[in-house]
Amino acid sequence: MKHLIAPSVLSADFANLQKDIEMINRSDADWFHIDIMDGVFVPNISYGFPVLKAIQKYAEKPLDVHLMIVDPDRYLQDFKLAGAENITVHIEACTHLHRTLHAIKDLGCKAGVAVNPHTPVSLLEDSIEDIDIVCLMSVNPGFGGQKFIDHTYKKIKDLRSMASGRNNDLLIEIDGGVSNQNAINLLQAGANVLVAGNSVFSAIDPLIEIATLKNLNPDLIGG
Ligand code: DX5
Ligand code: ZN
Repeated sequence: MKHLIAPSVLSADFANLQKDIEMINRSDADWFHIDIMDGVFVPNISYGFPVLKAIQKYAEKPLDVHLMIVDPDRYLQDFKLAGAENITVHIEACTHLHRTLHAIKDLGCKAGVAVNPHTPVSLLEDSIEDIDIVCLMSVNPGFGGQKFIDHTYKKIKDLRSMASGRNNDLLIEIDGGVSNQNAINLLQAGANVLVAGNSVFSAIDPLIEIATLKNLNPDLIGG
């Protein structure tokens, strides 16, 4: 499968959101990555339903919604109504992960689980068949523009081998500090979805930055 690119709207220009959304529509990106932060699960508040509905109005690609919130079960249906195609919850925020994943699937969405840098992927051992997307946090969630944590490579490899034969279609999404510097190594380790916020929106030409990420070929030595 060709890997997917999901620019993170968190780094967009919120005073000109329509312009940035239309840029992503025109680009080689596959999804819009939408970071929802509640100020409790993470030490930051991002944006909520009114902004998400405004994004939905213009976005022509799937909305990949990453919930950094406590008690996500309360809001799953609302996010579906606001246009979410993928809903990712944090394993650290779910007491009954199996129930939550199936509630997301029952809404007709892809079910994702995000894993903080300190959380071992071995905790997914008994859920791997129930998951569409594992979002490996390669920074501590809460802010864009942070430094990539190298330990993520080991987690990608461990997760890919856990999923082998049990969930070969598993999407492994890397979120935080992704750029054209590390993208090829992430893909070669077994990732197939790359979230990129700061590296896309701070680029001189975000369209070229996205195209470069999309056109990497992990099957070639050196990409
Ligand atoms: C961090 C968010 C990320 C963030 C990534 O809590 O989940 O999606 O926007 O941003 P960059 O690519 O700037 O690290
Ligand atoms: Zn995210």
